[in-house]
Amino acid sequence: MSAESGLNTFRDSNGLWEGHDVLEVASPEGFERNPKLVLDFYNARRKQLLAVSPNSAHFALAELEKDHEVVIVTQNVDDLHERAGSTQIIHLHGELLKVRSTDNEADVLDWRQDLNVGDFCENNHQLRPHIVWFGEAVPMMEIAIQQVQEADSVIIVGTSMQVYPAAGLVEFAPYSSPIYFVDPNPSLNSTHRITVFAEKATTGIPKVIASLKDWRGGF
Ligand SMILES: NC(=O)c1ccc[n+]([C@@H]2O[C@H](COP(=O)([O-])OP(=O)(O)OC[C@H]3O[C@@H](n4cnc5c(N)ncnc54)[C@H](O)[C@@H]3O)[C@@H](O)[C@H]2O)c1
Repeated sequence: MSAESGLNTFRDSNGLWEGHDVLEVASPEGFERNPKLVLDFYNARRKQLLAVSPNSAHFALAELEKDHEVVIVTQNVDDLHERAGSTQIIHLHGELLKVRSTDNEADVLDWRQDLNVGDFCENNHQLRPHIVWFGEAVPMMEIAIQQVQEADSVIIVGTSMQVYPAAGLVEFAPYSSPIYFVDPNPSLNSTHRITVFAEKATTGIPKVIASLKDWRGGF
């Protein structure tokens, strides 16, 4: 979703995230080994996020709310869906513009500046990014499953379907609900249930929306 806004996806062609092994910067063990490196990594991601804008695919999904109930379930940690105007967004893997106490995961703060070693919560515990790292629980999963179970249509955009439990969400879609998959390098094939658009989000999502109109005989 956010690649065309200028944010790199999780794994580039070398399997690295912005030049780093994902386990180095996105695991509790990596944070314990080198907290400064991890905080600096997310500081750079936060700066980058504040310099980019939503793209036409984000806006198309926000616009879809005029005629439909749209629930976005995202692995992205950016706020580009929010900025485009979508109102129901479930962040499975956390949010870059929030931090939390390392002592109490319910103690979450909005955060737009750099986060450094020595930045503490009000109870004097180090703050960390509000990001779900590898090996950590995905607290929003239950509510995401419930939304997919109730969906009349499911649109999957831009994922290599490698990270579980997120990649398993599609299995909860009702059998009668059509599934659309938009990705220039799709990891699923078209079947009688799944329609694949092997293209980028900004061109693929308008085609999905047109198919939804055809399927429902117009909105
Ligand atoms: N904690 C985190 O920050 C975190 C964790 C997991 C995933 N994510 C994000 O969630 C997204 C999906 O996760 P993933 O593990 O499947 O990432 P991934 O990097 O493995 O896969 C990204 C997918 O996006 C596709 N893609 C590239 N450009 C596209 C475009 N313009 N339009 C549509 N699709 C495009 C690629 O073909 C690939 O299949 C990624 O953007 C990733 O950055 C963030």
